[in-house]
Amino acid sequence: MGRSQSAQFVAAHDVCTHAFSISTDGWLEENILECLLHAGQFDLKTGLALGDPVTCDLNVLDTRICGGRLEVLLPQYVNPTIGM
Ligand code: FES
Repeated sequence: MGRSQSAQFVAAHDVCTHAFSISTDGWLEENILECLLHAGQFDLKTGLALGDPVTCDLNVLDTRICGGRLEVLLPQYVNPTIGM
């Protein structure tokens, strides 16, 4: 999770899709996250991979401020033993 310079909160998967570096070890400038390991870049508004060496997008989650608290919308959990 991070806060862009435009003061928006962003929640994203913390592992780079290229070679599994920890994304929060990288740099965040405006909405662009740059991976520490090989300088791959992602647009944190959309999760879009912005070119080599990253080719797979980053999973980005919706956030909102509600009652002074930051909330992150998590994907719905499906119990595989029960089914869908
Ligand atoms: S591990 Fe992130 S760009 Fe390679």
